[in-house]
Amino acid sequence: MNASPAFEFSRSSLQPVPAQRACRIALLGFGTVGRSVATILQGGSFPQLRLDMIYNRRVDRKRVPWVSPQVRWTDDLEEVLASDADVVLELAGGLEPAYSWVKRALLLGKSVVTANKKLIAAHGPELLDLARQQGCRLEFGAAVAGGVPVLCGVSPGLSGDRLLKLCGILNGTCNYILHAMESRGVTLDAALREAQQRGYAEADPSDDVDGLDARAKLAILVRTGFHLQADPQQIATQSIWPVQPADFRYARELGCTIRQVARAELKAGTLLAEVAPTVVSAGSPLGSARNNQNVLVTTGKYGGETVFAGAGAGGAPTAVAVVSDLLAVAESRAAANCGPALVAVPVSNDFRCRHYVRVTPAQTTDAVAALRRTLTSGGISLRGLLHHPDPHDRRPSLALVVEECSTHALEKALTQVQEAGLLAEPAVRMPMVTTS
Ligand code: HSE
Repeated sequence: MNASPAFEFSRSSLQPVPAQRACRIALLGFGTVGRSVATILQGGSFPQLRLDMIYNRRVDRKRVPWVSPQVRWTDDLEEVLASDADVVLELAGGLEPAYSWVKRALLLGKSVVTANKKLIAAHGPELLDLARQQGCRLEFGAAVAGGVPVLCGVSPGLSGDRLLKLCGILNGTCNYILHAMESRGVTLDAALREAQQRGYAEADPSDDVDGLDARAKLAILVRTGFHLQADPQQIATQSIWPVQPADFRYARELGCTIRQVARAELKAGTLLAEVAPTVVSAGSPLGSARNNQNVLVTTGKYGGETVFAGAGAGGAPTAVAVVSDLLAVAESRAAANCGPALVAVPVSNDFRCRHYVRVTPAQTTDAVAALRRTLTSGGISLRGLLHHPDPHDRRPSLALVVEECSTHALEKALTQVQEAGLLAEPAVRMPMVTTS
């Protein structure tokens, strides 16, 4: 295994902003979160934070009358970097140009606060190292779970435990969609449009729906909780697109529902990790998450399960997390402490767990019997079978509950079933996850 650069703050290197004057902030990106941060900063509750400058591309279309006339609006990044801002607040998102901006700000000795999960998942250790060398700060508490303070909850909050598992709902858009499908019977498309209107979704919402956003957040949590460096691109993701009303019907019969779950667990030197639509108990913390909520359940060797929950997406909750980071910089407090040096770890999604599988047989009885035979010969046992097709379904489907088995063994058996022509449509497989 390769050692990576340390991912921690040296508390002695923290340079306090002089107490007698407010911390000057240059905000990059006046979108949903940027506007909400400006609203809080203009509200008068935090005189120690002063919004000085707002940068946005084609800034004239962004100007609003409620921002104080003392704030400079600009679309010239060089003006921001040349200013006397103490903190650059990066809320533009995406990898570039955000990476270059943050690096340049740190090289100039300016602290940076960001909500950019993509950036921190890809370049966090390097940028933290740079911040440390420059004697300034890089804070990113808003990058994971929006308004829920999970990063500082995990470390330093739970750093006295030895974390074994992380399991959570880390994308508010997907939670909004799946909860809307479950509770109101709306289509995935329509629910996604609602989530976009509410300001929850990424600029490219396939980052949400296909699991890439939650994957970046999971990689950051793995660093913070396990002190391991996992390449986000190695974390398997499954889209929520294949989830259909039939899945919610079958899940309900099992006392369950469906959520996009991100989970990670250490097993024999390998990090098991994935993001996937998952069948969860309806009454569990994961199954109870509504609308834009996020939930994180950590399992520690000594302390057992700890649950964090709250609003995981949207302007105001994310802005609260951002302002908390700004206060930590202004007051020179350490926010999330990412712990000892990182170690690179191989990643697999070969979890052993129960699975839910929805299949649409090509023909009825023969196909079901052949399907059973193929699964059995792959060492996979069926726990139960549900067959209550809705008359409105295009093709009748049935749901299998598969006993705990290797994910890879089940995927292989399902590929064989598909290749043997037994299915009219690809099977939809979802892990079944239980938390207390
Ligand atoms: N698109 C993200 C989500 C925003 O839905 O969770 C918060 O990171």
